[in-house]
Amino acid sequence: MTHAVTILGIETSCDETAAAVLRLEDGKVTLLSDIIRTQLEEHAPYLGVVPEIAARAHAELADAAVAAAMNAAGISYGDLDGVAATAGPGLIGGVLVGLMTGKAVAQAAGIAFIPVNHLEGHALSPRLSEDCPFPYLLLLVSGGHCQFLEVRGLGDYKRLGSTIDDAVGEAFDKVAKLMGLGFPGGPAVERLAGSGNPKAHDFPRPLLNRPGLEMSFAGLKSAVARAAPGAETEAAKADICASFQAAICDVLAEKSARALAGFDPGTEGKRFVVAGGVAANNAVRAALETAAAAQGARLIAPPLRHCTDNAAMIALAGAERMAAGMLDGADGLDAGSRPRWPLDEASALNAPVYGGGHKGAKA
Ligand code: KG4
Ligand code: ZN
Repeated sequence: MTHAVTILGIETSCDETAAAVLRLEDGKVTLLSDIIRTQLEEHAPYLGVVPEIAARAHAELADAAVAAAMNAAGISYGDLDGVAATAGPGLIGGVLVGLMTGKAVAQAAGIAFIPVNHLEGHALSPRLSEDCPFPYLLLLVSGGHCQFLEVRGLGDYKRLGSTIDDAVGEAFDKVAKLMGLGFPGGPAVERLAGSGNPKAHDFPRPLLNRPGLEMSFAGLKSAVARAAPGAETEAAKADICASFQAAICDVLAEKSARALAGFDPGTEGKRFVVAGGVAANNAVRAALETAAAAQGARLIAPPLRHCTDNAAMIALAGAERMAAGMLDGADGLDAGSRPRWPLDEASALNAPVYGGGHKGAKA
């Protein structure tokens, strides 16, 4: 039996205003449109995402993004089965804009509204473009998140470990800020690291030798902050960037190897998905590739466009939930926003990871 659902997705939890239309038919994904408007220009003068500016920009851009996505998809609102919008975790002002926009469209069109956990969107993102059956191991490394998750099935996630302080992307952004490299920091640090010596500085690898999968990057950032004032030339800055990036790669590779060693996918092969903006970093990818190969796992990195924040993954999460008959009483026009919303609530309650950052909750 064919069963198709067509969903409009909306994403506004950080600094991308995005809308996408997706059709899911018997597990097959067709992306009808995929609009992403980044706010880099708005935030660049402040060297970081400013929540108030983000909220205002989302409010100005959201309607146009939705109209552009519908236009590009070439369908009318009557052809939609539902609207999915990020309801958290993220910056509350932006989340509210997406939620209100989504509810308004759903109500006007008389269709379902599906509140989506942004992290579930990232967790499912490899399924936008690959045949990636459950279960798989996921490393989410972005500006706001850094965690290992076992993705067992739709709505069935086990948090294996996460950062206890800064997210990796946040560390890249702060290091860039320390050295006056502009925003966003990750790409700038990677570019400069390319000409530096990764052994020039022996920066700490926090928690590397502690058992388990928790990570920490605040101490590494502080070590860079102590070294940065001495680096005046381009070459000296490059050495710091290269040494910082090497420390990040070592930590992520070692923890990934450990996570993979403990991951038993049953009769399935081991799949290791890396998602989030930091997955754009070539040195990080290479380190994860090596760790995966050593554990007999296949590394899957979604295309860059779907590694970073996008609405296609939100539409997919909504579509998969609707197709599986998983919408419940908390869905619909009454759905509230959740600035903090762990995917694996049981682990979050039993072993909370404290700490908030400028990009919201980390666990
Ligand atoms: O997933 P994302 O677009 O947004 C969220 O934080 O949810 O990730 C953005 C983060 C930023 O911190 C940015 O500096 C980092 O990803 N990033 C990178 C690279 N490109 C983006 N970090 C390291 N190397 C890169 N090439
Ligand atoms: Zn994200």
